[in-house]
Amino acid sequence: MTTPDPIGHAPEPSAPPGPVPPPGCPAHGMPPDALRRLYGAEAEADPRAMYELLRQEHGPVAPVLLHGDLPAWLVLGYREILEVTRSPSRFTRDSRHWRMFEEGKVTPDSPLRPMVEWQPTCIFVDGEEHRRLRSAVTESLEQFDRRGIRRYVIRYTNQLVDAFAGTGHADLIGQFAEKLPMLVMTQLLGMAEEYGPQLVDAALDLMKGTETALASNDFVVETLRSLVGRKKQNPGHDLASLLLSHPAGLSDDEVVEHLRLVLVAANETTVNLIANTLRMVLTDRRFRANLAGGHMTLPDALEQVLWDEPPLSTIPGRWAISDTVLGGQQIKAGDILMLGLEAGNADPEIRPDVTAPLHGNRAHLSFCSGPHECPGQEIGRAIADTGIDTLLARLSNVRLAVPEGELRSRAAWLSKRLEALPVVFAPPRSSNGSGGKQAVDFASAPGPLPDTVPVAAPPAVPQQPTARRAGGTWRSLFRSGR
Ligand code: HEM
Repeated sequence: MTTPDPIGHAPEPSAPPGPVPPPGCPAHGMPPDALRRLYGAEAEADPRAMYELLRQEHGPVAPVLLHGDLPAWLVLGYREILEVTRSPSRFTRDSRHWRMFEEGKVTPDSPLRPMVEWQPTCIFVDGEEHRRLRSAVTESLEQFDRRGIRRYVIRYTNQLVDAFAGTGHADLIGQFAEKLPMLVMTQLLGMAEEYGPQLVDAALDLMKGTETALASNDFVVETLRSLVGRKKQNPGHDLASLLLSHPAGLSDDEVVEHLRLVLVAANETTVNLIANTLRMVLTDRRFRANLAGGHMTLPDALEQVLWDEPPLSTIPGRWAISDTVLGGQQIKAGDILMLGLEAGNADPEIRPDVTAPLHGNRAHLSFCSGPHECPGQEIGRAIADTGIDTLLARLSNVRLAVPEGELRSRAAWLSKRLEALPVVFAPPRSSNGSGGKQAVDFASAPGPLPDTVPVAAPPAVPQQPTARRAGGTWRSLFRSGR
């Protein structure tokens, strides 16, 4: 039987005659309305349900529509995502291969543009050029002493907590998760401290696609440009100076572009990781029981969240270099493949029981895989882990201020973000930073805790060595530096 060609390719000369699709129909061989949209009300109401529906309907690789009803493939299978990301000779990160650009179908105001329009950074190139640019980023990031990063995280967490500690209530999204990563990143980049709050606002704004997004983007770029100018005169131990002096020989523009890439790549993702972990700590009884009983460390909890609630649920992934087959689908040269990281993490082929805890297993797809795998993952983990640890140590008897059912998330095509996480806690007698520390009370959720906790991870999940075990090995490694 011939596989139908669902995303609008011209029929092969040998294809049997069939019904002619209506003009403009993206679903050649399928009814025009048969393709699901990866954007809009249905997708954003419950992205996970949509992924499972697509998996049932099409298997590991599903035809979908992006904004503007542009055809795309959504890769839902764990193994298929690895196949795509580890085969750069078949699937490139260079978006200039997209047929929709060639055909002029991506409108100038398309919301896809900020994520798919080609830019001269390591994320949009492959091969030798990728190695040159990426080596500058990875080797510069590796220069940072973990203890130093941890100190920044603790300092900024304490500053943020000081602002609300006396009130006994807070919104841990707006007052904590959305602020911490950018404050830390501005320090790593080498920015003066006073830029922190302004950049936090601008970086959040430019990701939201608001009317002021372009102005915010200009502000970020200009700030980075003047930073690079200053660092050329007075280098220091910061990412800007390290990139400028790296043997890969980046031009000033390339340094600015990569500083912006790092800021944007680090911010939204780490905010989401902190938000999702805090929500789980505050709402999931099994989770709290595991943490409280010492069965799970906070780093293990982060990995569980990375499996279940990846900070980026989907990424605009790769473009087919030539005709090929993936997951039983005929992919044509120039097709776009979106990588469904959340769907891949929940693939029943590797995780038959998604409720079984994974105990620090790091084989999830949340940082992707292959040559473009996230080079900042340890920094992201460190900000989230140390930030949450420090926050919880400051807030005694912290619990949700509203019933769990009232928590609202806002989904967009690439990620889902909790809108607010209102909590109450016992105001401390003194809130002078680290001096005001309280005992962490993970088990203070209302209602009984389960007597037993599941211990077995499903055998099908690929095992990757976890750097950390219950008992705080990771934390002691962290303290001793690199
Ligand atoms: C929890 C936090 C984070 C998550 C979930 C995350 C996720 C990702 C993912 C999925 C990719 C791969 C994109 C692709 O394959 O197309 C990526 C790439 C990247 N990330 Fe992260 N990231 C996080 C934190 C960070 C941080 C803290 C930094 C910088 C300090 C960073 C810098 C980058 C860069 C530069 C790339 C591009 C790498 C390349 O193309 O070679 N990320 N990230």
